[in-house]
This record gives sequence, C-alpha cells and structure tokens, in this order.
Amino acid sequence: MSRTFAMIKPDAVERGLAGKILSRIATEGLTVVGMKLVHMTLEQAEGFYAEHKERPFFGSLTGYMSSGPSVLAVLEGDDAQPKWREMMGATNPADAAEGTIRKELAIGLEKNSVHGSDSEESAAREISYFFTDAEIVS
Ligand code: RTP
Ligand code: MG
Repeated sequence: MSRTFAMIKPDAVERGLAGKILSRIATEGLTVVGMKLVHMTLEQAEGFYAEHKERPFFGSLTGYMSSGPSVLAVLEGDDAQPKWREMMGATNPADAAEGTIRKELAIGLEKNSVHGSDSEESAAREISYFFTDAEIVS
C-alpha cells in the first residue's frame, strides 16, 4: 500500500465534476484517506508549485490555482502514485490518452482538471504541505 496526493483543480470543481472524478477514483481501486475543499491563497499556490518558480507559466498557474476552490485528497492503494498519474493522463489534454481524465474532462494545458504527485518523494512533500497526520484516516 502506498499514498499519493491528488487535487481536483478549480476548473473541474467549478464545473461540478468533483463527484464524477471521486467516483472514478473509487471504481479504479484507490481509497480516499484524506480530503478537504480549499480555496488556496496565492502564497499557498506559489509554495506548492515552487519547483516551477522559474518557468514562464508560473504566474499564470499560481493565479489560476488560487482563483477558486480545489478538492485536495490523499489517495491510498497499490502503486497509488503511478496509478493516479496514469488515470490522469498527460499534462496537455491534447496529448492525453483515450480514457484518461484529462482527455475526457480537461479544458486545456493549464486548466487540466487534476493534479497528481510525480514521484514518491513529491507525494510525501505534497501530502504534508496540506494535511497533518491527524487529518488522514488509517
Ligand atoms: P500537475 O503538477 O498539476 O499534476 O501537472 P503535471 O505534473 O502533469 O505538469 P507540470 O509540468 O508539473 O505542470 C504543472 C501545471 O502547470 C500548468 N502548466 N502550464 N502554460 C504551460 O506551458 C503550462 N505547462 C504546465 C498545468 O496546469 C500543469 O498541470
Ligand atoms: Mg507536476
């Protein structure tokens, strides 16, 4: 069993897609062990995406991520980190495989509906960025 960090981004929450995405997470065998609805501040978004600080899209990305509420979740299951990334699909929905969440639901490269940790190390950092141990059920 392992854990990963997932977000349903503002574009998807705004369109009422959170329930559909959570249902799919359950159907595909991952368990939600922590969850909250958060309207991030710009500072929170900048800290979360600090690895992209020097990228030209950083200002736009952090502005978007702080533009409305996101659903934040800790997912648990066998190979949770790679499994959730596979379910999400490629960053740009135009490149995402058929059947992935981004292919089906994303609006564009930035408004790509979901986030998932890209490694076990990122998962640990991202979970602890938003969740205390007491907020995760076991
Ligand atoms: P995420 O971190 O959100 O799960 O996405 P990812 O690993 O697939 O992609 P990453 O390279 O980490 O990029 C983070 C987010 O920044 C936005 N983005 N915009 N305008 C652009 O060129 C651009 N590239 C990336 C997307 O919202 C992407 O998910
Ligand atoms: Mg990423």
